[in-house]
Amino acid sequence: DPVLASSLGFCKTVPVLKGAPLHCCLPAPKTTPIRFRFPLIPRNLAGRLLLRERKPAHVVQKDPEYVRKYNLAYARMKALPDTDPRSFLNQWRVHCSFCNEAFKQRRTPGPLGPETGVPLQVHYSWTFLPWHRIYLYYHERILASLINDPTFALPFWNWDNQLDQDAAMIPAMFLPNFSVPNAALFDEFRNPNHMPPKILHLGYNSKLEAEGKQNLTDKQIRYENLCVMYNQVATKISARDFLGGPYVVGTDNSAATVNVSAGEVPGESGGMENAHNVAHEWTGLINDPNHPDNEDMGNFIYAARDPIFYSHHSNVDRLWDVWKTIPDKVTKSGSRKRMDYTSRDFLDTEFTFYDENQTCDRQGEGQP
Ligand code: C2O
Repeated sequence: DPVLASSLGFCKTVPVLKGAPLHCCLPAPKTTPIRFRFPLIPRNLAGRLLLRERKPAHVVQKDPEYVRKYNLAYARMKALPDTDPRSFLNQWRVHCSFCNEAFKQRRTPGPLGPETGVPLQVHYSWTFLPWHRIYLYYHERILASLINDPTFALPFWNWDNQLDQDAAMIPAMFLPNFSVPNAALFDEFRNPNHMPPKILHLGYNSKLEAEGKQNLTDKQIRYENLCVMYNQVATKISARDFLGGPYVVGTDNSAATVNVSAGEVPGESGGMENAHNVAHEWTGLINDPNHPDNEDMGNFIYAARDPIFYSHHSNVDRLWDVWKTIPDKVTKSGSRKRMDYTSRDFLDTEFTFYDENQTCDRQGEGQP
């Protein structure tokens, strides 16, 4: 059976290595969650649909007007009170609570349906890509509504691109001393050794780096990056290999099922999730004794406190789409090989999010 919407009013405290346990609690919904409906897309005066278009961060950062808006949207989001589900704090908590098992799976629709005893975990399975897509969808709508620009779109951090010199570095608009005010896009908890002109290394290994064994040239890094994209995206033909294994009511992918300190991960991640994990680890503070929790990007608990998180996931979301367009050179049959799961258990999975009106939306992936 598909995993169904969880109610949002549940709280969980998450233990961390350094400091007091964190609360990943979202404000309790004031109304019953509503079913998702596709919004009416606004048109311009000439009648053309005003669609959002996500662009590469290293390109769009050259447009001061874009950076000004992007920064303003986050500045306003960060200024919202803690009780507002749209606030940056609560946007972070959405990730922390769904990724750190604050909720229990449900088996029947509706906010009051009985819970099963199994924790809800949106990583390590086929749930990874769709859950983060819808998370970004609402996050982006909230940003857009805070600056009254219905066409505002998140940028994507184009780290898979090995041709454009700037694409795989941390985009400059997320760093201090940018040409346009950008304080709301900055986060202090990032690895100081991985600042530009360093490029993101998709074959990154923090242990090897600590032993001084990862001194690669840019050319070597780019070569490894292409290999990772080939191995984790292009050659992952089946939905299972790319998106991850099934996740249904009763599947327990919680951290408690494995020996985390031995480096074990629960569930069955797909290639896209695996590649994305490395970018998290590379960006956060790693090998820093003062930051044993690898904050921010290096730990799912903290990751969404860094605005670059949403731009990173914007690229993951894009690569999901790119994957489906890769022509099949193996059989030359012309048939589309790289397709999502078609089972009801996948398509009928439901999640609950707050939207830009602070209303609770129940998002059924399979709903037209
Ligand atoms: Cu929920 Cu990039 O992780």
